[in-house]
Amino acid sequence: MNTKTDFQHWKMETDDSGIAWLGFDLAESHTNTLGSAVMRELSQALDTIAGGSPRAVVVHSLKKNGFAAGADINEFTKLENESQAFEMIRSGQKVLDKLEALPCPTVAMLHGFVLGGGLELALACRYRIAADDARTQLGFPEVKLGIHPGFGGSIRSVNVMGVTAAMKLMLTGRSLKASKAHGQGLVDRLAKPDKLKEQAAKLALSPPSPAKAPMMQRLLGTAVLRPLIAGQLRKQTAAKVRKQHYPAPFAMIDLWQATGARPVQASYEAEAHSIARLMCGETARNLVRVFFLQNRLKSLGRKTEFKLRRVHVIGAGTMGGDIAAWCASRGFEVSVQDQKAEYVEKAFARARKYFAKRLKDEKKIEEAAARLKMDLDGDNIAGADVVIEAIIENREAKTTLLREVETRLAKGAVLATNTSSIPLEELAEALEQPSRLIGLHFFNPVTKMPLVEVIAGNQSADEALAHGLAAVRAMGKLPVPVKSAPGFLVNRILAPYMMAALRAWDEGIALEALDRAAEDFGMPMGPAELADTVGLDVLFAVAEVLKDTVSMEPPKAMHELVEAGKTGRKSGQGLYRWEDGKAVKDKSKAGATNTDLQDRLIMPYLNEAVCALREGIVEDADLLDAGAIFGTGFAPFRGGPIHYARTHTAEFKQLLESLAQQHGEFYRPDAGWDSL
Ligand code: NAI
Repeated sequence: MNTKTDFQHWKMETDDSGIAWLGFDLAESHTNTLGSAVMRELSQALDTIAGGSPRAVVVHSLKKNGFAAGADINEFTKLENESQAFEMIRSGQKVLDKLEALPCPTVAMLHGFVLGGGLELALACRYRIAADDARTQLGFPEVKLGIHPGFGGSIRSVNVMGVTAAMKLMLTGRSLKASKAHGQGLVDRLAKPDKLKEQAAKLALSPPSPAKAPMMQRLLGTAVLRPLIAGQLRKQTAAKVRKQHYPAPFAMIDLWQATGARPVQASYEAEAHSIARLMCGETARNLVRVFFLQNRLKSLGRKTEFKLRRVHVIGAGTMGGDIAAWCASRGFEVSVQDQKAEYVEKAFARARKYFAKRLKDEKKIEEAAARLKMDLDGDNIAGADVVIEAIIENREAKTTLLREVETRLAKGAVLATNTSSIPLEELAEALEQPSRLIGLHFFNPVTKMPLVEVIAGNQSADEALAHGLAAVRAMGKLPVPVKSAPGFLVNRILAPYMMAALRAWDEGIALEALDRAAEDFGMPMGPAELADTVGLDVLFAVAEVLKDTVSMEPPKAMHELVEAGKTGRKSGQGLYRWEDGKAVKDKSKAGATNTDLQDRLIMPYLNEAVCALREGIVEDADLLDAGAIFGTGFAPFRGGPIHYARTHTAEFKQLLESLAQQHGEFYRPDAGWDSL
């Protein structure tokens, strides 16, 4: 008999063969996430199912984009303390226990995103069948938010996949395609997307005995071997992240060592305690903050109807060439203009290498390459939605070019310059309609840096800016709106930090010690290595632009290096010697953790961030933090420079005062500290 019961977020239907189809359909959202209300209703639905004694249950999603993307992260931010977090987790676990305990076969039918809590829900079913296509992705991204699976996933995944594969999944946060997940035992069967439902029904009605992790893997979980394996995992993890900065992966390993992933109540309780502790810790709270900051940047691109199809790039150098390659690899038609064909050809050859690396598939590489067109005369300007000027940093050359481009530009198209130092207002003076010009400031290397500063000059129209934000978002980058001011945001806050390092080096402090101090703080790369990576010559240019804003002279020894052509990574020698793209460092010079040195480097960074906020370089503190994290790599687990400064305002201000006494005016705290 065919029966139907609808809840707010779950739709239930029993078909003639006796299968209860339980469809997840989060109300008023196009993506399924698991919040408290969803879990409460799931519990009721499972009671109804248990009362009806179906032959089998298939849990599936009614959303196009996937099964479920994870827990509802909004709820994390409302947790007041660890015991509240523990209660929330435990009650979720109990709902999934109920699903697992159903006496009939249970099947999770999977497509699209199957992430975090979604995968945990699937793991509470006896079987998993997944659509065999590239869109289906299974994974545990929890570590990226400073936590680990909490709805029994850390236990069940080990039992079906084995500790090696399950730990890799949880510790890296990377997801698996359906076919890979099948190969690793996470999924029992694959089905063609159009046969998924039929195959799920078949599996539900004639189920095999449930799969278990291979014998060898189960042996690794015995009490004798566990400490050994856990030790190896800790070592591998410590090579990538520090425990005091990112405790979650280490907690995950401790948890497994303690419980051996035995599927008993004590293990689930231990899992809940561990995640509750993490959730209420600084790192997770800050990483959740970073997640929301990223969403905020993404949402900035959604405020207009602007559609990006065609991009025209002028200047096929380091920046223009890579911007063109990036856009073509993301499906846009791209025309590239330069003074000579050979310059464009060189850029296209570089683009090909990038396509090969990123797209891998021969057909996709060819298609991307075909989207790149050489256009020496700018014939495609009129049809472009965005024109990006990325020629040499020369005012005359840029104004002449922009004036000429404007005459051919389509109505509503974005006119952008990638200048890093020439005030937008001055470039716009030459135009008929100065309000059309904005800046799109990409970072080098374009293919790696996620952020693009969208620069508004005094003359830029709101509409032009909104279109710029949308264009950057369409390209798959994170846009941050920034006022036109020397160094914009990213270079402005990085400069004092790098200058502080260079001055310390000039005083005789080892480069390795400087880099170590910054890395100890949580920066992805120390300032000396960063200076070489950016290029010492480029740094000079930045210092020149900022000379009235950040009063600090680059040391004489740096001038000498640049004059001798020792500009850093690109020349094989700068502050460091470079081999195979790596700085050659003498580890013995790094010394021990040195918080005084850390303060000398990080305090100028924070001070400049506070100053930039006070001057309104970005609209608010969150945008500044987002720009700093995605543009400079500022230690994400600290939540951003302003967030960090706000939690230690008086202490840091005092610290800056005493640094100023020791090392000069450069360290004097900005007036902005008083209004943080
Ligand atoms: P580049 O020197 O590598 O390339 C400039 C290209 O523009 C050359 O191929 C040149 O032939 C071409 N060009 C010059 N005048 C032209 C004209 N009138 N018409 C057509 N093409 C012309 O320069 P790069 O490093 O790519 O910089 C380009 C712009 O991006 C500059 O404004 C720079 O300030 C900015 N920028 C550079 C960054 C970097 O790290 N290199 C980072 C962010 C922005």
